[in-house]
Amino acid sequence: MKATAIANANIAIIKYWGRRDEALRIPTNNSISFTMDDQLQSVTTVEFSEKLRHDTLQLNGRQPKPKQLARVSHFLDFVRTKAKKKKLFAKIVSKNSFPTAAGLASSASGFAALAAASTLAIGLRSFSENKKNLSMLARLGSGSASRSVFGGAAEWRAGVKKDGSDCYSVQLSAPEKWKDLRNVIAITNSKEKRISSTDAMTRTVRTSEMFKCRLESVERRLRIVRKAIYDRDFESMAKTIMQESDSMHAVMLDSWPPIAYLNGISLEIIHKVIEINDSYGRPVAAYTFDAGPNAHIYTTKKYERAVRKALDDVDGIERVMVCGIGDGVRYPKKDLF
Ligand code: PMV
Repeated sequence: MKATAIANANIAIIKYWGRRDEALRIPTNNSISFTMDDQLQSVTTVEFSEKLRHDTLQLNGRQPKPKQLARVSHFLDFVRTKAKKKKLFAKIVSKNSFPTAAGLASSASGFAALAAASTLAIGLRSFSENKKNLSMLARLGSGSASRSVFGGAAEWRAGVKKDGSDCYSVQLSAPEKWKDLRNVIAITNSKEKRISSTDAMTRTVRTSEMFKCRLESVERRLRIVRKAIYDRDFESMAKTIMQESDSMHAVMLDSWPPIAYLNGISLEIIHKVIEINDSYGRPVAAYTFDAGPNAHIYTTKKYERAVRKALDDVDGIERVMVCGIGDGVRYPKKDLF
């Protein structure tokens, strides 16, 4: 009853920000992302045992916060219900290869790996072996986790049904098709964020007047990005990627009380990327920010050096790392315990 899974983080280019159903984590709009390579990875081992009286979690070698354990247990309740084993608890050990909750999408890789490991461990093969079902389940832990089930580019469909049965991700493009794509990540603050994305997006949907307007532009942007992915044409979606990030951060600021994830260094980076593109006369790089101040600059192999060089001029960046595009969920032979 023990199983291990690996999932990588994904960084959205069309963002998930807002839910039409909170409990079922059904989003207000479709979103699209690229899955990162193994540098941004969660490995999770789950063992169910009749000897346990409650779930235990070890996260990056430490005891989790009560809130983190509660969220994981709540997710496992869905798994237990589906397996009809409501009283079966688990020991969970999970490791991230990168800072948790710093806007590097640790919840996406974490819950995708947890969904895969827990369903395999409890014997729910219709989930552990079926990516559509797995992405639907991972969504209940963290919305963005539904996209991390797939490698390459993935689209998470919001669907229209009330029960969320048409709300899952699909792969748009295999990782091999994006060998030249890079995400140059500039960590501007690796500390944990002040407000979780789960709580923040609820606030936006409830209070932002600009939110409705954002939903209209997302539909148009989805069409542009889907075509660019189909054509494997990064430059044709670069501007849209940046406008999409700006739109999400605008509705965050338009919420009450306002939500501000970007810091001064993030803003410097935005201007640097615009400068690089101006200097080439073409959009060769595109910034995007999640619920945190760290920059993700998508570019191609050809311009990676130019982007890194431009970042040298920005004061206060803690660390720069470069990710390629990676795989979806998989099951390694070795367990963590
Ligand atoms: O990681 P979640 O499911 O709480 O949602 C985070 C949403 C963003 O990262 C801000 C955008 C996205 O689509 O990943």
